[in-house]
Amino acid sequence: METKLKTATITMSIDSQQITVPKGTTVLEAASMLNIEIPTLCYLKELAPDGSCRMCTIEVEGGRKGGLTTACTAHCQEGMVVYTGSPRVNDSRRFVLDLLLSNHKLDCFSCGKNGDCKLQDYCLDYGIDDTSFTDGKRMPCHQEDTSNPFFDYDPEKCIMCRRCSKVCQLRQGRDVISIAKRGFDTKMSPSYGAAFDQSLCESCGNCVSACPTGALVSKDHKTYREWETKKIPTTCPHCGTGCQMNL
Ligand code: FES
Repeated sequence: METKLKTATITMSIDSQQITVPKGTTVLEAASMLNIEIPTLCYLKELAPDGSCRMCTIEVEGGRKGGLTTACTAHCQEGMVVYTGSPRVNDSRRFVLDLLLSNHKLDCFSCGKNGDCKLQDYCLDYGIDDTSFTDGKRMPCHQEDTSNPFFDYDPEKCIMCRRCSKVCQLRQGRDVISIAKRGFDTKMSPSYGAAFDQSLCESCGNCVSACPTGALVSKDHKTYREWETKKIPTTCPHCGTGCQMNL
């Protein structure tokens, strides 16, 4: 007897556009089907959503907790009405960026990721050029780790998105980077706060390519800027730049 597979679907609306998606689709995925871009920092497609950066905040009409939630973790529901750029959403994202900058080195012009940094892009988009949390702004307390021959790590530019840690586990089957310490001293680092050259790091570069800011930067990236490069087809799965830099 012929059996028919029934796929449950959900119909909802995002920014007044109706869409029908398979059950289990997140709002972030549904929005991307409609070519609506929602800003993300901790999200990486192949990883389970972390929901930690809150940059993908959206507003759900009649939703719980005042209707604000994160698009990367929220699943589409029948009849859901979502707004991705309402005044409350934009205020919330500005607040997130303001908080991130309160704990972030602001040396963008000399940073190797200048022009290729998601945090920098969003700060420009949302008009944030410095933090308003000036009273509590703490002095730098983490040293830069330049011990790896291929990349440098500056904890003062880390936003704790954990993308580095997760790709290390998922793509490389290692668990080199994790969260160390607590409170203001919290930082991502190889186990027990060791330097990278003292760890089990294989220098595969996955963490560097996953980092959305200038925290993990390849050493040769410091000798050129993003706008001096062009993308080319390459067999290298990691670098994304290829070997033909426009220098
Ligand atoms: Fe959704 Fe970070 S991208 S919480």
